[in-house]
Amino acid sequence: MSTPSSTPTDATTTEAWGRLQQLADRKVDLRQAFDADPQRAERFSYDAADLFVDLSKNLVDDEVLAALVDLAGQVGLTQRRDAMFAGERINVTEDRAVLHTALRDPEGVRVEVDGEDVVPVVHEVLDKVYAFAEKVRSGEWVGVTGKRITTVVNIGIGGSDLGPVMVYEALKPYVQPGLSARFVSNIDPTDVAEKTRDLDPEQTLFIVASKTFTTLETLTNARLCRAWLLDGLRASGAIADGDDAASEAIAKHFVAVSTALDKVADFGIDPENAFGFWDWVGGRYSVGSAIGTSVAVAVGPENFSAFLAGMHAMDRHFVESDLAENVPALMGLLNVWYVNFHDAQTHAVLPYAQYLHRFPAYLQQLTMESNGKSVRYDGSPVTTDTGEVFWGEPGTNGQHAFYQLIHQGTRLIPADFIAVATPANPLKDGDADVHELFLANFFAQTAALAFGKTADEVRAEGTDEAIVPARVFSGNRPTTSIMAPALTPSVLGQLIALYEHITFTQGVVWGIDSFDQWGVELGKQLAKQVTPAVGGDESAIAEQDASTQSLVRWYRAHR
Ligand code: F6P
Repeated sequence: MSTPSSTPTDATTTEAWGRLQQLADRKVDLRQAFDADPQRAERFSYDAADLFVDLSKNLVDDEVLAALVDLAGQVGLTQRRDAMFAGERINVTEDRAVLHTALRDPEGVRVEVDGEDVVPVVHEVLDKVYAFAEKVRSGEWVGVTGKRITTVVNIGIGGSDLGPVMVYEALKPYVQPGLSARFVSNIDPTDVAEKTRDLDPEQTLFIVASKTFTTLETLTNARLCRAWLLDGLRASGAIADGDDAASEAIAKHFVAVSTALDKVADFGIDPENAFGFWDWVGGRYSVGSAIGTSVAVAVGPENFSAFLAGMHAMDRHFVESDLAENVPALMGLLNVWYVNFHDAQTHAVLPYAQYLHRFPAYLQQLTMESNGKSVRYDGSPVTTDTGEVFWGEPGTNGQHAFYQLIHQGTRLIPADFIAVATPANPLKDGDADVHELFLANFFAQTAALAFGKTADEVRAEGTDEAIVPARVFSGNRPTTSIMAPALTPSVLGQLIALYEHITFTQGVVWGIDSFDQWGVELGKQLAKQVTPAVGGDESAIAEQDASTQSLVRWYRAHR
């Protein structure tokens, strides 16, 4: 069994790994598998909370699935999962507990970190966020000139941006009319300029969201927004010059979300208007914390609670289901099957729901910041390939862009297809239900990928023999289909928690710490060191490597 302090089990030395290697040599043919077993779809489909998940079009049979489940047992997945939920410090390199799951625990559940139950403080902060959200939504919270807030601008990056923006976009139908949110993240000044250009400072509220409150991009953007606010208010005569008027305006137009409330105060934001969270919530796992304040304001406390309840429902599924029926565990193990036994280097996530258009981008941070590691949590080198590249775009746009490569390219690209039964916008084109046209594409694509089209089938269509090879689809390209009744706040929460636990499962098999992100540090440090050179400091330029010197000089000559 793996405990946080122990050495991770090397998956490649397990009995199950050896069996999987043998099974990988024996090809599963999806056409034959479906012909041979009329129950295959039913046998390999599962319910997880409100999600219906069809794994039958994956390159597996009973033996492969059994070996994958055995692998999970032999690397101690359930023990490690239980250690995470119990608040053990499984984020070894940062010496932290990993308790994003406590963010969605109902009141009354007890989860201890260092002997202290964290669930009451989670709810205390949630209540504060909800009270604030209600004030903004009702118009009780007004700007410095007494006008209602109509736009909330979240300033953050990474997990302090991708989660909120993805959820906001996904829950657009739930946003209160007359209120909207925007998201500033990039330090490219264009981002702030474009996002604020048409806003009225008197009706704009900024939420500075940063776990550490030290992130260069976020603090720079926060200062730019503060200057934009004060300049705008002064230019229109809404406030007088001077520090007192500025402080009053900042108090009405800036709030913060952070674990570092002292730094929030240094920035000039009243700690009364700050919402805390804790070091046991990783940035990319933080959308269920106060980092989701922009979303709570936009969709309201009731919907945000339903979102958290959806996450919790998937947490319970992950904790309570046998591994053989456990959807996040099975999907994580399938990803291991493709990465380590079929040499898959990427994984597509293809939502057939336009509102989920930022879901793949969100998953990129979740999966790749978590599992892009080459050492295990005890510092030893990994013994297998780890994190695959996640990518995707909403269907059907992707069909007309990159699906060609998935269907007929030389690489194996496992893909998750996600769709909902009830559309948010049920439009008709004459008599045709457009959502059904859309869904027909969802169903057709996974069938085409699984079953392909043989040369004989192509010939039977009267195709010229010379182009038959180009029109053959080999099939046997694996997909998972995920269906939900509708894209409700709860379903969205379930989807997010599903992928969190998939990511976790993969990390456990690989023996890595899925909760640190040291790989982003070096670039940050070098950016600080290069900044004087970019500004023209000759001695700083001379300290750079030859390529950086050449690039900086080119920039200085062309700016
Ligand atoms: O990219 C590194 C990272 O630390 C992410 O993990 C995090 O989500 C992001 O930066 C933003 O950090 P913060 O919320 O502290 O500003």
